[in-house]
Parts: sequence; structure tokens; C-alpha cells
Amino acid sequence: MKTAVADSFLDVERLRRDFPCLQQEVRGKPLVYLDNAATTQVPRSVISAVSSFHIHDRANIHRGVHTLSQRATKAYDAVRENVAAFVHAFESREVVFTKGATEGLNLLAHTLGRSLVPGDEVLVTGMEHHSNIVPWQIVCEATGATLKHVPLTDTGALDLEAFESLLGPSTRILSMVHVSNALGTINPVQDMVAKARALGAVTVLDGAQAVAHLPVDVQALGCDFYVFSGHKLFGPTGVGVLWGRAELLEGLPPWQGGGDMIRSVSFAGTTYADIPARFEAGTPNIAGVIGLGAAIDFVNRVGLDAIGVWERNLLEYGTAALAEVQGLRMVGTAPQKAGVMSFVLEGIHPHDIGTILDMEGIAVRAGHHCAQPVMEHFQVPATARASLSFYNTRADIDALVQGLAVVKETLGR
Ligand code: ALA
Repeated sequence: MKTAVADSFLDVERLRRDFPCLQQEVRGKPLVYLDNAATTQVPRSVISAVSSFHIHDRANIHRGVHTLSQRATKAYDAVRENVAAFVHAFESREVVFTKGATEGLNLLAHTLGRSLVPGDEVLVTGMEHHSNIVPWQIVCEATGATLKHVPLTDTGALDLEAFESLLGPSTRILSMVHVSNALGTINPVQDMVAKARALGAVTVLDGAQAVAHLPVDVQALGCDFYVFSGHKLFGPTGVGVLWGRAELLEGLPPWQGGGDMIRSVSFAGTTYADIPARFEAGTPNIAGVIGLGAAIDFVNRVGLDAIGVWERNLLEYGTAALAEVQGLRMVGTAPQKAGVMSFVLEGIHPHDIGTILDMEGIAVRAGHHCAQPVMEHFQVPATARASLSFYNTRADIDALVQGLAVVKETLGR
């Protein structure tokens, strides 16, 4: 197996040096980090931005007249502009900072979902992360609405004929994943969103696994809401984004109450702040937002087009390499895929794969990936998942293949 870095215009070896966490040995072996769908690593610029806030500018935002508070406010608000440009929002007040994609989806379920009535339908897909199933189940249970899902094909794509027949005048909300965390499938969201909106449904996209791998343009996608997390985009944990069309955000009832989301409060009644503040109750993750801004700057410097080319090449190389491993079955072989390779090895539990690979310094995720309906569809309890980022190389894939040989040898298979 060739071990050279794939031909590309990305200087990956140089870029890797920006990521301190990648520069280590784990169990005496150079770390091979292939768990990017769970969390990506952070570059030095993000670490510096976060620590600089704590060292120089730490203060609360939108509340103080003093210098530190003004600096913190300016830095925080600037990231909103940055995010708006990154996802091609119509305007920056459409960007709401959250704890992550999960919180964005919960916010929508508990606000959009509040007006559902019996007979209404919420449509998701069979490849959702639990965070795009459970909040809607909770809200459907409370309102009497019905949750439906688009089934998967054998490759792990969506059954688009079934989608069209599930879609109807009762579909009030289509909430679906852009790129599947468990399978890597890239869904034809633009077409699906257009069809749902034509019938009057509100459309929500979960972009947690998309934003670090492909350019996202919410205007071109045509959706109403888009959510993602910072920690899968080379940013801090505990921060994320909900983008929504201004006119729709303005029409939503408030969700969490508290400081910063109000205009005036009295015991006679409360009036609420305009968007986006209305949805950012309490002191937010200021350092996280600032770190997210630095992460977006980093991604912009590398370029999502270049990242896409690199990762597609690597996925192709990895898919071919894993196909040579006897007894390995890839779970998720849709024609349009991002860099996720979920697999099972005959007779070996995925947790054993993950544990033995760790002994070799290789980090993959083993489990149901918070997508149990996907596991049910493929009739597996779990998979081992190697997920790529632009800082991975062919050498990482080769190490994985060698690691799988060790797994088999250790377990006598
Ligand atoms: N959603 C993350 C994953 O897929 C945690 O691993």
C-alpha cells in the first residue's frame, strides 16, 4: 500500500503542524486521529483566540460600559458577521449562538413545534442523529402530532420515492441531516427542501457533519433553518450556531427566558428583545464564540474547496484499502459520501476493534454513533467508524489497515 501523501495542492504536513494535539504519541505510537466526526482537533489560532480572551478581555458582553466588556462585546458580535458570511446568511441577525447543533434542534422543536396540532406531521429521515429524532418525539407526544421518517436504501442513501410519498399537505416540518454521521451519506437536501417548501413545510437542516467538509450556502440550499456545532469545525466544544431566516425567527415564540433576551420585564408582563438576542438568554459561551470565529478564519484560509478535494481523494483511497481487508463490510456505500467509513469485521465486536486500535495509537469511534435507527436498518449492533478530516493522510489509512490486521491477529481471526 502506498504511504505517500496524496497528490494535492493542500500542504497537509504543514497544516498538521498547526494542530498541537496531533503531535503526540499514544501508547508509544504516533497518534492516528480518525474520529473527526465525533470531534475535530483545534488549530493553534483557535487556542490563542480563546486564551487571549481569558488573558486580556474577559468580561461579560452587552452589559458593561467598561473597556473589557466593550472589547468582549465587539469580539463576540464580530463572530456573528463572520458566521453569517461563512454560511451565506441574508443578514447577521439570522445567526443565533447555541451550545451546539443539539441545542439548535431542541430550540426549534420547542418553539416551531409548539404550534403543532393533532394531524400535523414532522418528517425526519432514518439516518438522523438522535438529536434530530428525540426532540421531535417529545414535541409530537406533547402536541399529538405524528413523527414520520424517510426510509433508507441498502446503500444507506435515502429512498427518495418514499420521501415523495411521505411528503404531503400535513407535513408541517421537514427536519433532516445534511451529511450522515454514521454513514457519511451526503443527502440531496436542496431538492428535498424545495419539494417540502413547495408544500408549505418549514425546513430544518442539521449540518453538524457538513460544515467542516463542504461549502454551505443557506441561500442556495433554500432551507429555513440550519444548525451546526463548533467542535466539529475545529472550534471549541459547547458552542454552535442556529441560522434561520429572519422572518421565521421573528415569528417564533421565545424559548429560554433570562438575561439579554428581554426588552423589559415587570410582573405585569415581559416584552422580548429582537432576534438574535431573543434566543440567547443568559451569559453565552463568549470564549467559545470567539474560538469559533478563529476556527472559521482558519477554514477560510485553507479553503473548503481544497478540503473537499483532499477528503474525497482520501475517502476513495480508504474505501479501496478497506475493501481489501478480509471479512470487512462497509456500512454505508451511498454514491454521494463524505469522509466517513463505518464498518464491521466478521466475528469481531466493534468495541474490540476500537480498543485494540487504540493500543496501536489509532483513534476511531465504535458504537451506534447516536444513530440507533441506522444500526437497526443495517441489522448491526454497532460499527467501527473512521472519519476523516483534511489533516489526515494516506499514511493514516495505511496505519488503520495495519491496525486491523493486529485486531484480527490479537483475536485469532
Ligand atoms: N455526533 C458525534 C458523532 O457522530 C458525537 O460521533
